[in-house]
Amino acid sequence: MAKQDDQFKKVISHAKEYGYIFQSSEIYDGLSAVYDYAQNGAELKKNIRDYWWKAMVQMNENIVGIDAAILMHPTTWKASGHVDAFNDPLIDNKDSKKRYRADVLVEDYCLKIEAKIEKEVKKAAKRFGDAFNKEEFVSTNGRVVGYQEKIDTILARLGKSLENEDLADVKALIEELEIADPVSGSKNWTEVKQFNLMFGTKLGASADTAMDLYLRPETAQGIFVNFLNVQKTGRMKIPFGIAQTGKAFRNEIVARQFIFRQREFEQMEMQFFVKPGTQKEWYEAWKENRMKWHLSLGMGADNYRFHDHEKLAHYADAAADIEFKFPFGFKELEGIHSRTDFDLKAHEKHSGKKLQYFDHEAKESYVPYVVETSIGLDRMFLAIFSNSLVDETLEDGSERTVLRLPAVLAPTKAAVLPLIKRDGLPEIARKIMDDLKFDFNVIYDEKDAVGRRYRRQDAAGTPFCITVDHDTLEDNMVTIRHRDTMEQQRVKIEDVRSIIMKEVDMRAWLMKM
Ligand code: GAP
Repeated sequence: MAKQDDQFKKVISHAKEYGYIFQSSEIYDGLSAVYDYAQNGAELKKNIRDYWWKAMVQMNENIVGIDAAILMHPTTWKASGHVDAFNDPLIDNKDSKKRYRADVLVEDYCLKIEAKIEKEVKKAAKRFGDAFNKEEFVSTNGRVVGYQEKIDTILARLGKSLENEDLADVKALIEELEIADPVSGSKNWTEVKQFNLMFGTKLGASADTAMDLYLRPETAQGIFVNFLNVQKTGRMKIPFGIAQTGKAFRNEIVARQFIFRQREFEQMEMQFFVKPGTQKEWYEAWKENRMKWHLSLGMGADNYRFHDHEKLAHYADAAADIEFKFPFGFKELEGIHSRTDFDLKAHEKHSGKKLQYFDHEAKESYVPYVVETSIGLDRMFLAIFSNSLVDETLEDGSERTVLRLPAVLAPTKAAVLPLIKRDGLPEIARKIMDDLKFDFNVIYDEKDAVGRRYRRQDAAGTPFCITVDHDTLEDNMVTIRHRDTMEQQRVKIEDVRSIIMKEVDMRAWLMKM
């Protein structure tokens, strides 16, 4: 646990030191759970967004993208159920005065049991060596089976209590498990209460005519209310999808874990409209498709897993998360939800307008069912950033910190480095920059010894360094150094662009899906 905490602290400080993420309003001591993306962070975030958008919109002829407003008519949120049901169960500790999400306290308790399982697995793997069969071990080892049963029983009870709004039982569960305040160790808890997560605001100048609005807590509703406009103007035939990226706002009770849980964040959502009765097959297809997208980035299949929901949201008939192994353990990265016809029907009812699709072949109208994929852009950022940050011991015993970002997403693709600041080398370096900048973000760096400059670019995540030396004056060639392997290649200046392009072109990465 301490090792995980250290790694996470390192991620946060590296993100600041290398211009990726700053605390919002830092000069005023910051605003809790709100962050600013710095010069490199904004580029990485944009590249992740583009990678998602291309995979969704450009690669699928039956998916189109929109950009709806953050502010929506307030009835939207009544219809969607957010006014009545977008709550988290909160609990306060009477001694420390700290506030927690009651369900998260229980889930964290289960994570600790899960860590014990992992420890047993590691021990056994060491003992049995090559003959070790993990699946067999976890299904037959008495201690591990016992741990797993305990987790399942606790989560099933939590799910049931939340579904039945039985908050007294959630408190009883916390007490039975003897869960203590992680800060003070106190077990002196208040009752569990519901807390609505939407931020309110007002539209209009005068107090008596102002209209109460909400900042959207999800981007999805902007898609639902535009469903028929897009279908008609885009002549879309079911099945078809509408994609969108944009800000969402939630007044999270427990905002911690850096950009994992923020009060202002960005979502990348896609609503796929299908014929009623076909939702199950589309739900499975989108689960598979989204996992392929993740795996195409090459961050290791072991870092992902599916988690089927015990407690379904008010709009869903099936739901699963894609979880990622963050520095603090496996946690939700993306949700895939079969949302039925709940939203469209609710908007029909509240607006009095029909939101139906006319199927020309079947000659019938119906309200489509929806399968949604919903991923937090900031969480994806954290997954990539934390997974990429590694400390390495090199063959000569020296250490280096390297940010192994997938090259396609790296904010800066190459650094151009004249070996020294004279003899015409800077001029050649500048000429190379001027050519490459039409295709990629490139930077110029002439300060310090070249070895230090390499290390600086490794830590910033730049996949290529291009060094101009005295031989360049004679042979028109430069050295390309690859960040991950540290391999150095002597190449013609005219070939530099295509060598970089081969590694960073989105086309090649998307083809891995
Ligand atoms: N439209 C469905 C929906 O919003 P959700 O599971 O509440 O579903 C989807 O959110 C995704 O949005 C999550 O999987 C997560 O990646 C991201 N997300 C949710 N709350 C967040 C928060 N407070 N901070 C950062 N990302 C968040």
